[in-house]
Amino acid sequence: MDWDLRCGDWRFQLADVEHVDALIVDAPYSKKTHTGHDAAMARLERLRNRGTERREIVYDGWSELDVRAFVKAWSPRCLGWFVTVTDHVLAPVWAAALEDAGRYVFAPLPWVAPGSRVRLVGDGPSCWTCWIVVARPRTREFTNWGTLPGAYVINADRGSHIGGKPIALMEALVRDYTRPGDLVCDPCAGYGTTLAAAVRNGRRGVGAELDPETHAKALAWLDRNARAVDMFTTHDSAPARAVEQLQLEEVTR
Ligand SMILES: C[S@@+](CC[C@H](N)C(=O)[O-])C[C@H]1O[C@@H](n2cnc3c(N)ncnc32)[C@H](O)[C@@H]1O
Repeated sequence: MDWDLRCGDWRFQLADVEHVDALIVDAPYSKKTHTGHDAAMARLERLRNRGTERREIVYDGWSELDVRAFVKAWSPRCLGWFVTVTDHVLAPVWAAALEDAGRYVFAPLPWVAPGSRVRLVGDGPSCWTCWIVVARPRTREFTNWGTLPGAYVINADRGSHIGGKPIALMEALVRDYTRPGDLVCDPCAGYGTTLAAAVRNGRRGVGAELDPETHAKALAWLDRNARAVDMFTTHDSAPARAVEQLQLEEVTR
């Protein structure tokens, strides 16, 4: 099996993972965003007044200390790109922590879900744009690829669980920031979307999920969805396009 999703806190469950080729994580967002989300859901419920199921976030928001502890633990163990999906509050915090860890950090890339609604409570008004902070090692090997799309414009998966990212978004990140055969790590794996995206694109995935209920659902979902999709398809990727472009420029110079 090309994926391994462990149940529990990454600090203990992934202690034996010495090195990974890339880290792609969608860790909890800031407390401000969590509060805004719960307030928005409560208001929606009141407006509808028909006992709609509340979709509350069941895990705590993260602070600067959480982000810094995570980067300190994982940056030295990650041989390649470090990619994190986050909110507007924590994006600069991730960027600063990754710089301090010695990485080259790029301007954050937006993930825009077309058609998502503006939120007028909590931390709103805001549209549902997430920020993707990407950082590479300061070595020559990583200078010519990654970080090419100006933005990821990808619809949210309708009906997906709260916090779950669209598989199309995670597949795009996997293709842009990893190579076939790489070991991709997501220590805050939720329902396992990153791991599925990795396996579907010929990579391997390892991760952990804190909440046992989410972990159990993720195992069942991964069983159905984490299979290599088409081993003979050459996926179009930003790194591949970048290398082609550079080669083209060298030839025409
Ligand atoms: C935004 S969700 C990830 C969603 C995921 N990308 C998906 O598509 O399903 C963040 C997840 O991190 C988990 N988490 C938070 N702290 C953790 C920890 N210390 N160890 C492992 N998982 C943790 C939460 O339980 C939550 O499911």
